[in-house]
Amino acid sequence: MHGKDDFKMNRGVRKWVDKDGEKFLRRIGVSRGQKVLDFGCGPGHYTIPAAKLVGDRGKVYAFDKDSDALRELEETAKQFGLNNISLIKGDTKIPLGNNSIDIVLCYDVVHYSGKRALVYNEVRRLLRDGGIFSLYPKHYKDDFPLMELASLGLEDIIKEVEVSGFTLKDKIHGECLHDDYYNECVVLNFEPVDKRQK
Ligand SMILES: C[S@@+](CC[C@H](N)C(=O)[O-])C[C@H]1O[C@@H](n2cnc3c(N)ncnc32)[C@H](O)[C@@H]1O
Repeated sequence: MHGKDDFKMNRGVRKWVDKDGEKFLRRIGVSRGQKVLDFGCGPGHYTIPAAKLVGDRGKVYAFDKDSDALRELEETAKQFGLNNISLIKGDTKIPLGNNSIDIVLCYDVVHYSGKRALVYNEVRRLLRDGGIFSLYPKHYKDDFPLMELASLGLEDIIKEVEVSGFTLKDKIHGECLHDDYYNECVVLNFEPVDKRQK
């Protein structure tokens, strides 16, 4: 297991992956035994706490188009002794089966995409009926606007996700990690509209 000097991460990130991340993800709905997809996982600041929470019987699929980020995550997972993370490199399309995932985390990702409906459709395909699509939209109009979300408000984002076949279940307010620092955030939990009726 890891010693105190094994990690490259700063103190805030370390505190998050050691403790606060799990608390936060428990509130989101991540629990033991689940299959979680971390869509746009980056270096894994949410993947690691999710993997600790789901335990040996669960699995976290860490998906990203950036090989360097995946390599960093692989190293961190080793340091934490976690064997339940599967790394997948790709862009938007994910080689996993329909209805195979309990929770998709998509945190600080969709501002990169002008084709967000493709992302939402892929998430919907992968989620089981009753699963959760947990979206942390960063960089929208009221939260350090940038790139593709810069002109959208939170309600606009909720609408565009709902149009893709989801319904908003919960808005979770809290303190979460952005890059390598804590900030106030709003996470949106959606459920797919009953897939059996579509
Ligand atoms: C700002 S980072 C967020 C990382 C992590 N989710 C977090 O909150 O710490 C965004 C990540 O999403 C990835 N990404 C963005 N769009 C993607 C797409 N369409 N398919 C796969 N990865 C994507 C980027 O490569 C980047 O690593």
